[in-house]
Amino acid sequence: MKKVKAKACSNIALVKYWGKRNIPLNLPAVASISVTLDTLFTETEVRFDPELKNDILVLNGSLASEKDTQRMAKFLDLIREKSKNKNCAYVESTNNFPTSAGLASSASSFACLALAAGRAAGLDLPKSKLSELARLGSGSAARSIFGGFVEMAIGKKDDGSDCIAHQLFPKEHWDLTVLIAITSEKKKKTGSTDGMESSRLTSPFYKPWITSSPKDMDEMREAIIQKDFEKVAEVAEFSCLKMHALALATNPGLIYWNGTTVDAMHHVREMRENGTPVFFTIDAGPQVKAICPAEYSGQVQKQLEQLPGVIRVIKTGLGGDAIVVEEKRVG
Ligand code: DP6
Repeated sequence: MKKVKAKACSNIALVKYWGKRNIPLNLPAVASISVTLDTLFTETEVRFDPELKNDILVLNGSLASEKDTQRMAKFLDLIREKSKNKNCAYVESTNNFPTSAGLASSASSFACLALAAGRAAGLDLPKSKLSELARLGSGSAARSIFGGFVEMAIGKKDDGSDCIAHQLFPKEHWDLTVLIAITSEKKKKTGSTDGMESSRLTSPFYKPWITSSPKDMDEMREAIIQKDFEKVAEVAEFSCLKMHALALATNPGLIYWNGTTVDAMHHVREMRENGTPVFFTIDAGPQVKAICPAEYSGQVQKQLEQLPGVIRVIKTGLGGDAIVVEEKRVG
C-alpha cells in the first residue's frame, strides 16, 4: 500500500473556458490559455486502504461535506476503473489560500488529486494522461498539471483523449505577477459548472462566443511568444469581458461582479492609460486579478489596496508543474 502526497498550483485563464461540448466527459466547448499561480496551491495526500468502507475526504483539517466527498468519490471511481486498485481511499487535502475568498480551488484540487491518487493506485501516468484525468474532475484542472503558460486544447476526438492541456512556456519565459484584489468573501450563488451550462442553454451570445474563440487563442498564443504585453492585455480583457457578457445574457442573468469589482476594472484601465503595464481578468466571482510585469507589482498592489471596497490583495508569481512531494510504502 502506498501513501502519496502531491502539490498542484491554481491557475488563472487569460483566454477563458466557459461552456462544455460534452458533459459526462467534461469536454470544454472552447480552448483556453492560462498562467499557473505559484502562491495558491493545494496539497493532497492519498492512501487506498482495504479496511475502509467509504472514501473519506478531510478538507483543510475538517471532514468534508457530503457533496464534496461525493464529487471526489466519483473521480476516484475513474482511477479505480483504470487501475487494479479497487479499495476506498483516505484523502487529506489542504488549500493554502482561503477557499472562503471565492478563489477557484477546483483547478488545483483535481490536478493534485489526479496526481496523488493515480500514483497511490499504482498508475504511472505521463503528464498528458494526467491532464486528461484531471479534466474529468474539472476543466480548468487539466491546465494545473503544468506550470508557466499553458494551453488547453479543445480536441477533436469524441472520447476526449486529445482534449488536454500542454505547456506553452515554463514560468521563466516571462516574469509576470498576479495581484488578486479580494472584494468579497461571500460564497457565490452559482458556480462555474452550473453557470456555464445555463449559458449554453439560454444565452443568445453562446454561438458567437464559440465561433470567436479561435481568433483569441491565436492572438494570445502569438502575444505570449512575442512577450507583447499590450496585446496580451487587450486579448485577455476582451476574453474576460466577453465571457461575462455571455454570463450576463444568460437567463436568469449571472452577475458575478459587485460594485468594487467594476471600480477595480476602471482603476486598472486608468493605471494602464497612465503608463503602468497592467490588465485585469475576472473568473466566475467578484475578485479582480491584475496582471503586470513583476517590476511593476509593488505599485499596482499599493494602488489596488487603496481602492475603497478592496478587502486585501494577494500577490503571486507564476508557478510550476504539479509534483509528487512524498511517496511512502505503508501497511
Ligand atoms: C471562469 O473548470 O471550474 O474559471 O469544468 O465545470 O469544473 P468545470 O468548470 P471550471 O470552470 C472554470 C471557468 C473559469 C474560466 C477558466 O478558468 O478558464
